[in-house]
Amino acid sequence: MTADVRALPDTATTGDDEGIGRVLVIIPTYQERENLPLIVARVRASVPEADILVADDGSPDGTGEVADQIALDDEHVHVLHRASKQGLGAAYIAGFRWGLERGYGALVEMDADGSHQPEQLPTLLAALQTADVALGSRWVRGGTVRNWPKSREALSRSANTYARVLLGIPIRDATGGYRAYRARVLRSFELDAVRSQGYCFQIELTLRALRSGFRVVEVPIEFVERQHGASKMSRAIVVEALWRVTVWGVQSRTGRLDRKLHTESR
Ligand code: GDD
Ligand code: MN
Repeated sequence: MTADVRALPDTATTGDDEGIGRVLVIIPTYQERENLPLIVARVRASVPEADILVADDGSPDGTGEVADQIALDDEHVHVLHRASKQGLGAAYIAGFRWGLERGYGALVEMDADGSHQPEQLPTLLAALQTADVALGSRWVRGGTVRNWPKSREALSRSANTYARVLLGIPIRDATGGYRAYRARVLRSFELDAVRSQGYCFQIELTLRALRSGFRVVEVPIEFVERQHGASKMSRAIVVEALWRVTVWGVQSRTGRLDRKLHTESR
């Protein structure tokens, strides 16, 4: 599924078949001690040339130390330690900065809990040959979710419908967290201006990429609910997303959104 953008400002690219450069897979973690070794091993097997950055927020269960241990034995694995839980958005921003400073050509977001299957990463990366952003999508044809309670599926579907309609974006799964960006996309953003802290971060980056004229495509994925540990989804995360999408929706109707996206600061 392709979602072509309407207006293409001069930052736009139509995609080309040049190589995508070195790949960095960023895995944010909070309380993922059991999951981390499994996911790292699967990424290493699936895309051996890629590097991994674990962005841990001082997990009390020692996930950060588990990550350090893995990194000791594998030069493809790096760890970013942050002092306390500051949200998924903040962890990714720090990870993006780390990767951009080191010259990676493609940056991937992936959950630690196995929901995003590393075996599907080659397909996601292949889409970057002709796109600037490849979104792993549960809600396009061929996309699926395994083992999710009906309530969680309903929440994801309604959040996505709300975002699509209110923001006028042609994306079926703007909240998903399995995606790949060309470095130039993230380099063009003022990362300081990204305000979303929770899962709303995914919607915000999708919106920013589209508004900047980048080519964003959706690639069907099979999302598999975690077997170990617990989701960090909370009421606060839902409220933040609802609130921000509503504000962006109103601003886009009154022509103030692009200015807003550039001037927001934490
Ligand atoms: N460093 C850090 N800090 N990591 C975090 C934080 C945080 O504050 N909150 C969550 N994470 C990590 C988790 O440890 C996990 O690796 C990943 O982010 C996703 O968190 P989950 O708690 O497993 O998310 P989910 O399964 O409920 O939600 C999934 O669906 C959302 C809605 O579609 C994820 O794919 C989200 O990315 C997605 O937005
Ligand atoms: Mn999860």
